Amino acid sequence: MSKSPANYRPETRLVHSGTLRSQYGETSEALFLTQGYVYSSAEECEARFKGEDPGFIYSRYSNPTIAMFERRMIELEGAEAARSAATGMAAVTTAILAPLKAGDHVVASRALFGSCLYVIQDLLPRYGIETTLVDGANLDEWQRALKPNTKTFFLESPTNPTLDVLDIPSIAEIAHSGGARLVVDNVFATPIWQSPLALGADVVVYSATKHIDGQGRCLGGIILSSEAFIAEHVHNFMRQTGPSISPFNAWVLLKGLETLGVRVRAQTDTAARIADVLASHPKIARLVYPGREDHPQAALVKKQMRGGSTLVGFEVKGGKAAAFRVLNELKLAKISNNLGDAKSLVTHPATTTHQRLKPEVRAELGIGEGFIRFSAGLEHADDLIEDLTAALEKA
Ligand SMILES: Cc1ncc(COP(=O)(O)O)c(C=O)c1O
Repeated sequence: MSKSPANYRPETRLVHSGTLRSQYGETSEALFLTQGYVYSSAEECEARFKGEDPGFIYSRYSNPTIAMFERRMIELEGAEAARSAATGMAAVTTAILAPLKAGDHVVASRALFGSCLYVIQDLLPRYGIETTLVDGANLDEWQRALKPNTKTFFLESPTNPTLDVLDIPSIAEIAHSGGARLVVDNVFATPIWQSPLALGADVVVYSATKHIDGQGRCLGGIILSSEAFIAEHVHNFMRQTGPSISPFNAWVLLKGLETLGVRVRAQTDTAARIADVLASHPKIARLVYPGREDHPQAALVKKQMRGGSTLVGFEVKGGKAAAFRVLNELKLAKISNNLGDAKSLVTHPATTTHQRLKPEVRAELGIGEGFIRFSAGLEHADDLIEDLTAALEKA
């Protein structure tokens, strides 16, 4: 008897899970670029709408290519169900907003990607949802923030851009003790290095735009959770409000998954080598790399992650002017606010992704004026190290 792809190791699931072959028996998954579906009879159509026939109805609800992408992610992540979305932010917003109503309360870690912070700080309160931001590394703050009306805890780990690692099992336990759910944005860890659901989280979200595509082509997002969470909160919200992914983007991401493991492993090895070189570099004031023994939460990294990170964070001595000189001198790594790409990308968070924050809030988060986020690509590590060290000479 053949095994189901879900029973194979992750590398095998990344290649085989979810494949639906058409009558032509294609090797590579087909792209079903269709808005709708035709029915062989009015009776079949009625049964589909009643949910008595499992086929497709309309691509805002579901589509064979999108279903393949979702199934592959479900089997990789160990989730029961998933819904993909047009962007990572559509996935984050849906996962947070869809189950809530006015009067509910959300607690989130302060160290969040700027748009996630907007959803928590600006958007939710406009609809009567109370929010509290905490220092995610401080478990007492999560505990103290918990109230009878708290429905959701939200965090990302490692955090963007300072790569702090938050204790997912302990934070999940605090959430559950108050009847709340934990939603984890797992973008920085990737499904290769961290499985939040297995660590106790209830919902995991991705910007598939990042490592899952990994080649800078299209945007996408996905929410993975229990059958009950997706059915009760996500399915109808997405079906009626329409932040659906395009089948074309789902196809690109599905094919991206086939190489996710090899890419993330190679990019992590390169990032680790870069971190080791920068750790003792005279122009660097501070280096953060999950996977090094000097990371502030090194023990936690070992406990909840299977590998380090494709990203390295470092503070150049000399503040913004020095950081800008390094960015402008780099020949290989490109200045971009994106990450997880085959091309190495460098970001100055203080003037881009976290520019909206007040300088004192940035300082509190550890985002100094000289802080640079380096997303290691698939170039040869030696070329990237030579490029970086040459640029640092000019800092
Ligand atoms: C941690 C994190 N979450 C969510 C997002 C949003 O993803 P997208 O750009 O696909 O909407 C990003 C990046 O943009 C991110 O870095």
